[in-house]
Formats: sequence, structure tokens, C-alpha cells
Amino acid sequence: MASTLTDLSAVRQSIETALGLPNAHYTDPRLHAEESQALLLDGWSGLAVTADVPEPGDAVPIEFLGIPLLLLRDRSGQVRVFQNICRHRGMILVSEPRRIEGAIRCPYHSWCYSTEGRLVATPHVGGPGHNAHDAVNRSELGLIEVRSHIWREVVWINVSGTAPAFEDANARLIERWAEFDQPLYHGGPDSAFRLDVNCNWKLAVENYCESYHLPWVHPGLNSYSRLEDHYHIQEPGLFSGQGTLVYRQLTGEDGRTFPDFPGLSAKWDTAAEYIAAFPNVLLGVHRDHAFAIILRPEAQDRTSEHIHLFYAAPDTDSDLRARNTEQWKLVFEEDVFVVEGMQRGRAAPGFDGGHFSPAMDGPTHLFHDWVAQRLIARRDRPAAE
Ligand code: FES
Ligand SMILES: [Fe+2]
Repeated sequence: MASTLTDLSAVRQSIETALGLPNAHYTDPRLHAEESQALLLDGWSGLAVTADVPEPGDAVPIEFLGIPLLLLRDRSGQVRVFQNICRHRGMILVSEPRRIEGAIRCPYHSWCYSTEGRLVATPHVGGPGHNAHDAVNRSELGLIEVRSHIWREVVWINVSGTAPAFEDANARLIERWAEFDQPLYHGGPDSAFRLDVNCNWKLAVENYCESYHLPWVHPGLNSYSRLEDHYHIQEPGLFSGQGTLVYRQLTGEDGRTFPDFPGLSAKWDTAAEYIAAFPNVLLGVHRDHAFAIILRPEAQDRTSEHIHLFYAAPDTDSDLRARNTEQWKLVFEEDVFVVEGMQRGRAAPGFDGGHFSPAMDGPTHLFHDWVAQRLIARRDRPAAE
């Protein structure tokens, strides 16, 4: 049993004496499975962005923690997530991203589903030429829908269906960034990229939420946004991150900039914030653009990072946009060697989970504590399985 594998009491200590999560939480597939359930499936996880399915009928199959899902924009324009399986014999319905014209037809025996998930056709199910059978009740055999919610153009899912409503679970974060609660426009194909990293997904979170590493890992960024210009963001049990007081807008040769999000308070003239929305979404906000990084755990030691940039207007300068994407790509690539290095470090039997700087590692310790608290709560539940 995974639950007997690790002792998490040291993780839950105050930061001065706490240790980080034990090695097995980064290397052992059994712990990965336990965490997948407790941290990702039981809560609200990021899956994709709405721009992945821009038009009605667009469908993208996504495997999330090994579960075959189908991200879909239905006829009415609503983004939905289904389990990507036919209710007949469990065949995978959609195996490549495509636009559904008409219905979703299972490639095996051609049962058909509407984009809202209703089972609409069952050819020959009652024998040749008979497309109905009393024992096959179409109204009960629609696609299995996964609970989903759109916030900041991210498609969040709660696979277990047991989490509190998204707005309740994330109330503090929604409130903190209420000023940014306005239309976000994805920059399009030049504003999305993917990085594949050889590390456990948690290491990407742990690295993202602290600014301690900036001087050494991001010398370019650090040249104008120094360590002392940053502050910690810490909401125990909810989220953590960092902010800067000296955000500088990207400026084109002709002095052009991206349009600002309207109505922001003066603080945001020079501030920007970077928050890890637990479990797996890394968000950034600035006066003139925002981004979301969705971490998809591919295995206990592999993660795909899906980065998307958003703007305050549907049409922005494409050269400037490309430069912005390039700039962020450089920054996120600079982080790869440390998250992969920490992953390799977890093979050292002498590593005890690590020690935190009480001054600098607060946001990272907060995440470790959140993980431990969620796992302990689930282990303590009598019928937890
Ligand atoms: S498995 Fe889909 S129609 Fe038979
Ligand atoms: Fe970094």
C-alpha cells in the first residue's frame, strides 16, 4: 500500500525545521498514483486551454494521468470534457485532433454521439436493419462527462466529481486577481509552446513559485528585476508564488507596446505576479499580458508543460507577440536544468527531502505542506481507495 510508504510528519513542521517531501514522492510509481488521485483527480486540475478547441465541433483527445479524455467544443460553443470512450464496448472514440462534422461516430460499430454527448444513433443494434433495441436505452448511454470549469481561459477538471465548486475552491485567488477578471485573448499559434521535462510535475511547481533562484538561473531577467524587487505570495493550503515590483513592458522599435488590460489600479503599472494554482497550473499576470502553464504529469519523472500567452485585445502586433513568446520561452527553458537536476538528485538515498530557507523558500515550503496535508487527509479517510 502506498499509504504506508512514507512518513510526512517532518514535511508538516514549520519552515525552520521542516524537511521537503521524501524522494519516493518523485521516483516511485506507487506514490505517483497515490498523489495523482489525492492531488490531481480529487481536486481541480488544469487540462488545457479553450483555444485548443477554437471552433464548434473541434475535438482534441488528451490522456490525463492515463485517462483518455476528449476536450470538445459543442455545437453551441460550450467547451466540455468527456471520457473518450464509446458506451458500447469501450472503444476510443477520437484518436486525433479534428473537427467533428455532425456526430462523433465510434469507429468500431458506428454508434454516434452528439457534441453534447447524447447517444443519437445505434445502427443495427436490434439486428440487421433495426437501429433500436428495447434493452439499449439511448438516453442512459450518453458520453460520460467530466466536471469542468473555465477560468482565465484554462479548462479545469475535477475528475472525481467530489471537489467543492471551482469558485469556492479558488475563491481567494479569484478575489486576489479580480482586477484581471476580464476578457483574455489567446495570442494564437505564435503564443503557445510545449516543453517536455524529465522531472516530476511537483518540481516544476516548487521552482516556479520562488524567486530565490533568479540571480543564478535567470541572469537576463535578474538584470532589471532583482531579487530584492520581489515579494512572496503565500496563502497556506491554497496557493503560493511571487511578485515583482519592477515589471517592464516589452517595447517595439517604434515604441509600440501591447494594450493594457483596462481599469487596473496603479500598482500594476510596474507590478506583476506569478502564482502556482495548486495542483498543476502556473499563472502569470502583467498589465499587458498574461500566461498559463499547464503541467501534465506523463509519469512520475516526466512532465509536459503547455505554455499559453494571452492579451487584452484580440489583435496585437505579431512581431511584438513573437518576441514576447521568445522571451518567455528563454526564461522557462532556463529552468529546465534545475528541475531535471533536482529530479536526478532524488535518486540519492542520502537526500532527506531538503532544508528550506525560512526567508526565501516560504512559497515552496507552502506547496510541500499542501501536498502532505492532502495526502494525509486522504490516508486518514476510512474508505480511501
Ligand atoms: S465500441 Fe463503439 S460502437 Fe461498438
Ligand atoms: Fe525560474
